[in-house]
Parts: sequence; structure tokens; C-alpha cells
Amino acid sequence: MTEKHQHPHSTSRSDVRKHLLKQAYGQKKPPTLPEPSAIFATTPLRPLREFLSPKLYQFSYLAPRKKTNDMFQDKIFEGKTALVTGGRSGIGYEIARQLLNYGAEVYIASRKEEPLKEAAAALNKLGTCHHFALDIREPEKIDELAEYIMDKSGKLDLLVNNAGGQFPSPAEGIARKGWLAVINTNLNGTWFMTQAMANTFFLPQESGSIVNIIVDHYRGFPGMSHTGAARAGVDNLTKSLAVEWANRNVRINSVAPGIIKSSGLENYPPEMVAQVSGTIPVKRLGKVEEVAEAVLFLSLADYVTGETLYIDGGSRLWGDMWQA
Ligand SMILES: NC(=O)c1ccc[n+]([C@@H]2O[C@H](COP(=O)([O-])OP(=O)(O)OC[C@H]3O[C@@H](n4cnc5c(N)ncnc54)[C@H](OP(=O)(O)O)[C@@H]3O)[C@@H](O)[C@H]2O)c1
Repeated sequence: MTEKHQHPHSTSRSDVRKHLLKQAYGQKKPPTLPEPSAIFATTPLRPLREFLSPKLYQFSYLAPRKKTNDMFQDKIFEGKTALVTGGRSGIGYEIARQLLNYGAEVYIASRKEEPLKEAAAALNKLGTCHHFALDIREPEKIDELAEYIMDKSGKLDLLVNNAGGQFPSPAEGIARKGWLAVINTNLNGTWFMTQAMANTFFLPQESGSIVNIIVDHYRGFPGMSHTGAARAGVDNLTKSLAVEWANRNVRINSVAPGIIKSSGLENYPPEMVAQVSGTIPVKRLGKVEEVAEAVLFLSLADYVTGETLYIDGGSRLWGDMWQA
């Protein structure tokens, strides 16, 4: 390696910048580029922002959180109706919150009536949020939910199959009842919901989008083989339905979260959660906001169907919680 291509010894940003400019321009004088901070200093809006910020931030913890970032246009979901299963907590709640912030009318559905009602009351401050208590393993209840949505809104544009759950166990120790409960919820429940909403709304309307929340099962799912099997089933279903329903203008995609800091993690031993970030390439757990943003993106991306988007900080490629 010649001296010209060696890295600078100092790691300061400006040294690296100088080094890169020297490499690019040799001994010629590089064009003078303003530092990014200099560009910002000249913006005419800066004094206004500096005047307003402390006053706004002073009370921001009291305000219902609005948008998390500027990824999407304001009110991009205005006029849209969305159903988020498991929307009373964790990832589902955040998906519902973001959809409401961007203008959608939202339905949340899960089993426990009281916490569901409380979540809907909180979400209602951001827009119109309905709730409906049901177990996704009961197709008759799902039909009732479809009727409820039809009566109130007359249509559905987006279904987010987020409800689900599992428990950690070595495969040989999973009781038959536990196996069936996990498969029934995560595979059968997701299918019952998808079929009912497709037959009631998406296929007759000839429009609609479905996003399934699965798990990061890229290299199997050791330690939770039941849910790995169920979610791989949903992953494959996503591809089949994407093709079957493409010419009816119905898209379906999946989001595969890695380990996300959410209420769902309360079901796992704390010592297991504590050591998890070391097994993730980016060395941190994911955020519910990051999963929700992926769901919103897929629901808007008109030319994307049959895909699974991993939101996992690179976990599918490197790092193992399970010691082989
Ligand atoms: N957190 C993570 O690290 C992670 C990673 C990968 C995938 N996921 C998946 O992402 C989804 C959301 O997880 P989370 O972390 O937000 O956990 P969570 O707070 O436990 O959310 C699960 C939600 O699903 C509902 N639910 C469970 N079984 C149901 C059923 N049979 N019928 C109707 N609703 C049901 C629950 O409400 P009720 O109990 O009231 O029914 C709850 O609102 C789950 O499918 C989870 O497996 C989570």
C-alpha cells in the first residue's frame, strides 16, 4: 500500500475529510466546500427555530406524541381505513398510533377487553380509533369483526396481522397443547383473519394491502421452533397470495422483526433479554417505531408484493442467541 492510500493516523472527522480530498485531488488545490455546520448557520430560519425550540420542547412530554420522523407526507393515510390486530400493546399499538397520526381511521382488535378499551381511548386522541375484542383463532368472531367494520366504515384498505405470541422452550420440551396454541395463533389465526378480510373487503373492492408481522426466521428459529414453523408458513403464504391476488390489486407483504424493545419481551426471562444486544450486529435492540415505519412503507409501496422485510439490525446474517 502506498503512502497515498494509507489511512490517516488521526481519526478526527476533519482529518479524514482532508485525507479523502487529498486522495481525490492529489497535489491540486481541492475546491473549497463549506462545512455542513456553516451551511446551517446561514439559513434564515435558524433564529426562529432557536427562539421556538426551548418553548416547544419544554412541554413536549405532555403532548400526545405526533410523528416520529418525516419519512412520510402529512396525512398520507387520510381517507384510509386500517385494522391492526394486537393493536392494544407494543408493536401493534405503535403501528396504530402512526397510522392515526398520518390520518387513517383505525380498528384495533385483541382478546383482553379492558386493556383494549384503554388503548383505544388513548389512541382516540389522535384520530378515530375503534376497538373490537376477539381471539383470532375464532373465525366466527372474525366474521363479526368484518361486519362491524363494514357497518361503520364500509371498506377496509389495510390489514396488519400483528397479533401473535409464543414462549421459549427447547423443541423436545414443547407440550402438544403449547405447540397447537402457537400454531393456531400465529399461522391459523393469521390465515382466518386474512381470508375473511380479503373475501369481505379486498377482493370485492379490488384494492387493499396486507402486512403480516412474523419473526426473524431466516436461519430457523432455535429455542422457539413452534413459532419459527408457524411464521415460515405465513412467509410462504405471503408469496402464494401475492401472486394469486396480484391481478385483483391486492398486495401482501411481511415484516420480520428481530428483537424489539416492546411489551412482548416481558414474557421472556430478563437474563435472556439482557445478553441479547451482544448477538445483534448493530449492538442494540430494535424500536417499535422502526417496525411500524416498515409496515407503513410496505402498505404504501404499490410495486412491492410477496416480500419479507427484515427489521433486525442485521441479525439474520450474524449472531446467535441459541448456543449450539
Ligand atoms: N417484540 C419482539 O421482539 C418481537 C420480535 C418478532 C416478532 N414479534 C411479534 O410481533 C407481534 C407483536 O409483538 P409485541 O412485542 O408487540 O408483543 P405483545 O405486546 O405481546 O403483542 C401481542 C398482541 O397480540 C395480541 N394477541 C395475542 N394473541 C392473540 C389472539 N389469539 N387473538 C387476538 N389477539 C391476540 C395481544 O393482546 P391480547 O393478549 O389482549 O390478546 C397483544 O396485543 C407478535 O406477533 C410478536 O410475536 C415480536
